Amino acid sequence: MTQIRLIKRGVALAALSLALAACSSADVPAGHSSADRNAGHTSSSSGLPAGRIAEGEKLASVKGAATGQSCVDCHGAEGNAPIDPTYPKLAGQYHDYIAHSLQMYRDGDREHALMSNQAKALNDQQIADLAAYFGSRDKGQLRDLHGIH
Ligand code: HEC
Repeated sequence: MTQIRLIKRGVALAALSLALAACSSADVPAGHSSADRNAGHTSSSSGLPAGRIAEGEKLASVKGAATGQSCVDCHGAEGNAPIDPTYPKLAGQYHDYIAHSLQMYRDGDREHALMSNQAKALNDQQIADLAAYFGSRDKGQLRDLHGIH
């Protein structure tokens, strides 16, 4: 009896998670910032100009007017040596992911007390350049988890 009840419960949970999965993929295009969605873009960094590594490198050390800090002030040299162990490493991260994250912070779809202000003033070209730069750095300690179960 108990066993049957447990099985039923398992089936109900599985059905629920399927329903949630269906719901989130159909109704919530969470992978895109609101500005991106409004522009009708379907891929995370679509609509961005091509990134220029050299420009991104320069920009990574420029102090933002609002905060007086630059990217490398917090994320470390080449985005690979954060000043706090809880700050993410950026070196070797997928450039697409970096660009997407910056768009989300800028547009208010991802919020963080320290990071959001850093992205507010960035235009699309700057986001593309920063993503190209940090994405092109040596991976450091980032690992690709594809294929790991
Ligand atoms: C004051 C410190 C600080 C500065 C300056 C800063 N960041 Fe960040 N950054 C953080 C922190 C803390 C997080 C983690 C925030 C979170 O959990 O959402 C973060 C997150 C990120 C992420 C998301 C990474 C991930 O793995 O999801 C990206 C991309 C990023 N920063 C890029 C930049 C760029 C580019 C600049 C310069 C324009 C910059 N940051 C400046 C502290 C900073």
